[in-house]
Amino acid sequence: MNPTQQFEQAKKARIHALGQDTAFAKRSRQWLEESMRKGYVYNFSWLGRPIIQTPNDIVAMQEVIWKVQPDLIIETGIAHGGSLILSASMLVLNEECGGPAGARVLGVDIDIRQHNREAIEAHPLSSRIDMIQGSSVLPAVVAQVAAKAVGKKKIMVCLDSNHTHEHVLKELNAYAAMVSVGSYCIVFDTFVEDMPEDVFPDRPWTPGNNPKTAVWAYLDKHPEFQIDHEIDNKLLISVAPDGYLKRVR
Ligand SMILES: C[S@@+](CC[C@H](N)C(=O)[O-])C[C@H]1O[C@@H](n2cnc3c(N)ncnc32)[C@H](O)[C@@H]1O
Repeated sequence: MNPTQQFEQAKKARIHALGQDTAFAKRSRQWLEESMRKGYVYNFSWLGRPIIQTPNDIVAMQEVIWKVQPDLIIETGIAHGGSLILSASMLVLNEECGGPAGARVLGVDIDIRQHNREAIEAHPLSSRIDMIQGSSVLPAVVAQVAAKAVGKKKIMVCLDSNHTHEHVLKELNAYAAMVSVGSYCIVFDTFVEDMPEDVFPDRPWTPGNNPKTAVWAYLDKHPEFQIDHEIDNKLLISVAPDGYLKRVR
């Protein structure tokens, strides 16, 4: 075994062991809970745009986008645009390194605030980005997204809009089928299931009614997707446990 293989093997074994470490998982959940109560996820930006993610999930996105080499990333939930800019920046880097040319990001949001739209459109990476305003589950919006997906070879989907069970399940039913084999559907904020009820007092999502329960319901009928537990085990602190779904067939 060469040194690179040795490194990768040690990493795999370490990540597997982390996945068995229930005490560390508990402490990680406690840290996540405390960080949510303090608004930690609002601390960061990507190339100048606020991104509502944990740094860990941002790194995982980088790893997935590099591995998959998508030519289209579909994202529901734009907010300030940070996740669109993250995806666009990775597509540019992929291309620079020999990946697909002209790959694009398509964002959908029910309410693209004017100041956010202007800032995203003024960003140097805006030429990679398309945006649709409307609810992600409206048939007319799904049809517009499907039209943009025609002819694309490797599609990735990220769901980060309304986090109720019903909404996310509808999104999964609308968009997961667009994901290419070998690519991912990433469902954010599945961690709501693991948090005490009072962490999101002003939101409709709760334990029992959130993206993770939607993922579980969806996977029951869709064996073509599997949870990539290796990502959960390596991150430990993540808003998307059980949410990194790989399309395996
Ligand atoms: C958590 S933020 C998205 C954060 C962004 N992905 C990021 O990482 O910076 C959620 C967004 O979902 C949008 N949203 C809420 N309900 C929606 C719906 N039914 N369809 C599309 N977007 C929706 C909100 O307007 C909000 O901008």
